[in-house]
Amino acid sequence: MVVEKIGINNLSVEAGMRQLAEHLGEDIEFWGLTGLLHDLDYNETKDDEARHTYLTAEWLTQHAPPQEMMHAIHAHPGHVSCESRLDWSLYCVDPATGFLVACALMHPDKKLASLDSDFMIRRFHEKRFAAGALRENMQACSHLGLELPDFLLIVRDGMQKISGILGL
Ligand SMILES: [Fe+2]
Repeated sequence: MVVEKIGINNLSVEAGMRQLAEHLGEDIEFWGLTGLLHDLDYNETKDDEARHTYLTAEWLTQHAPPQEMMHAIHAHPGHVSCESRLDWSLYCVDPATGFLVACALMHPDKKLASLDSDFMIRRFHEKRFAAGALRENMQACSHLGLELPDFLLIVRDGMQKISGILGL
């Protein structure tokens, strides 16, 4: 039941989280799994933000997910505040993946591999471009000691590893 709820967005966030964990010397599998599961209840709660992630928590109860993982999942839509590096990472990777998909689709090559810092940063400052990808959330990468261009390149590198699945 849980597996069938994993959408392509969750795969992108997993890929970004894995790459970021590797860069920061954190637990790649644990961070990747947190990304993979973060939006499990997306379809069921898209019109009910207050329930988002809490339904996921109900579904995962039988698997006894680590508290640290659930805290990060609850923090990504702002239900609780970000405290750990895992919390901040999910918080900034989530909008970054949607932003990078939009960047790739706008690029003449339609490839993640073609996105360089200049291109990404120019799009970042265009307020109307991918407006749903919250810039403020992405800028929270500063809590990880990362500059925005470096952070975006890390997430892009992670997503490139599943470029075949993403078709980008
Ligand atoms: Fe979400």
